[in-house]
Amino acid sequence: MKITKIALGLATVTAIFVTGCTIAQKTYSEESLGLRKVDIYTENSIVPDKTDYTKPAAGASTKIDRAFENAPPMISHDVEGMLPITINNNQCIVCHDPAVAASMGAVPVPLTHFTDLRPQTSLNENGKIVKEGNVVDNTSDLKVPKQKELAHLAGARFNCTQCHAPQSDTKLIVENNFEADFRKDGDNKSSNLIDNINEGVK
Ligand code: HEC
Ligand code: HEC
Repeated sequence: MKITKIALGLATVTAIFVTGCTIAQKTYSEESLGLRKVDIYTENSIVPDKTDYTKPAAGASTKIDRAFENAPPMISHDVEGMLPITINNNQCIVCHDPAVAASMGAVPVPLTHFTDLRPQTSLNENGKIVKEGNVVDNTSDLKVPKQKELAHLAGARFNCTQCHAPQSDTKLIVENNFEADFRKDGDNKSSNLIDNINEGVK
């Protein structure tokens, strides 16, 4: 009986404590929440900063440092008239094809883009996974063999702007404080992925 009484008393104290907290709760205005800083009834009136793409033409632009080691570099020049990329018209390779890049002053498309990174995977008659001719238990091991170099641009790399994007000079609502840790000098200016693509892969 006594135990029940103590338990009840404790419950009452807790209840009072919790209610007390609710009363003292801080309130926030709608305008202080979210990124637009207006209430939801007027948020349609907020116009984002204008998109203002890089203007200097190819050959006259300043390259942008990589965001992190082996990040796809941003397109530093104007792409007016070069897009969209279609099966019959890829202007990017007109200048970036390694065969002509040096004469155009452009950075050549790297060897990774001339490599088939997709392993040949199939099932054998016993239902086992066969990858690159070997029976494996799982397909997560993506070691890239040397012979996967192609004589042409890999199909998966044809649509350049899927990974490389022009940049807009826009006022940021949220600052990005990320700072990349480059392992070697110069890794912020060019890529070395083909040399270390098998890094950490058993
Ligand atoms: C007329 C030649 C030309 C065309 C066409 C062209 N580029 Fe470029 N690109 C250059 C040059 C030259 C540079 C080096 C920076 C400069 O001088 O402006 C460059 C720089 C770049 C860079 C930065 C490389 C780095 O290491 O930082 C990327 C990425 C790029 N271009 C992608 C593209 C893509 C994608 C297209 C197609 C939409 C394209 N380029 C079309 C000539 C060209
Ligand atoms: C699937 C994503 C993807 C596509 C598509 C792609 N790239 Fe890349 N690109 C990358 C990445 C990631 C890197 C950096 C690592 C590396 O070298 O592979 C890179 C690097 C580059 C570089 C810098 C090379 C250097 O030596 O620093 C150039 C130039 C480039 N790409 C041009 C192109 C062009 C032109 C196309 C279209 C023909 C293209 N890329 C398509 C992801 C892509």
